[in-house]
Amino acid sequence: MSGEVEELPSSKLGTKEYWDSAYDTELSNYAIDGDIGEIWFGEESLERVISWMLESNLVDTHSVIIDVGCGNGAFLLYLAAEGFTNLYGIDYSQKAIELAQAIATKKKVDIKYEQVDLVTGDDGGNTWTRKYDVCHDKGTYDAISLCPEDPQSKRLSYIKSVFHLTKDSGLFVITSCNWTCDELIEHFSDYFFKEHIIPTPTFMFGGKVGSQLSCIVFRKLLK
Ligand SMILES: C[S@@+](CC[C@H](N)C(=O)[O-])C[C@H]1O[C@@H](n2cnc3c(N)ncnc32)[C@H](O)[C@@H]1O
Repeated sequence: MSGEVEELPSSKLGTKEYWDSAYDTELSNYAIDGDIGEIWFGEESLERVISWMLESNLVDTHSVIIDVGCGNGAFLLYLAAEGFTNLYGIDYSQKAIELAQAIATKKKVDIKYEQVDLVTGDDGGNTWTRKYDVCHDKGTYDAISLCPEDPQSKRLSYIKSVFHLTKDSGLFVITSCNWTCDELIEHFSDYFFKEHIIPTPTFMFGGKVGSQLSCIVFRKLLK
């Protein structure tokens, strides 16, 4: 993260209280009607990444994959449905982990979940001792970037955590709605380099082509 970064305006989405309360509600809803809750950026955003994984020769169904900030675990459930077998999910909200675990158990899918804070490193002893072929993030770096207090150092702690979790020369795949591809490449440049940009739908605004979502496959730098 070499250059000066203009931080985003803070939001309640950058607080643990917000996510604990959101997943508490989603856990109750799941118990009542089986609704698994929100899939951030829609189903097509996770299908886009999974299609790339299936088509690329960089990932296979035996790859060890971790979803960081997994929420309800929807991304991992979709991967399991495609035959992927080594799946892990972490989130700092214990309620998210309970929800994701309840859904996986009901669907009889083997996914290992653990409560881990990617910024402080708290908990998740088993998570930290393992290395992963692929780390996946959809919306988690975005949420951390919205922290009301010192988002810059929190983003850097997150980047170091993901670097630690990824195997040497492993992949880190991120979908973001808050940062452009160029910004993400700059933020992660001390730890990862761009392997591939997964195209996302674009729109025209004021004569310029924009993009609502950025989706990048990074490869870990050898240090
Ligand atoms: C926008 S939601 C995305 C959830 C899921 N990845 C999805 O795409 O549906 C952001 C997630 O990041 C988690 N999160 C935020 N900060 C975190 C941190 N420091 N450590 C671990 N998880 C975090 C939240 O609890 C929440 O589940």
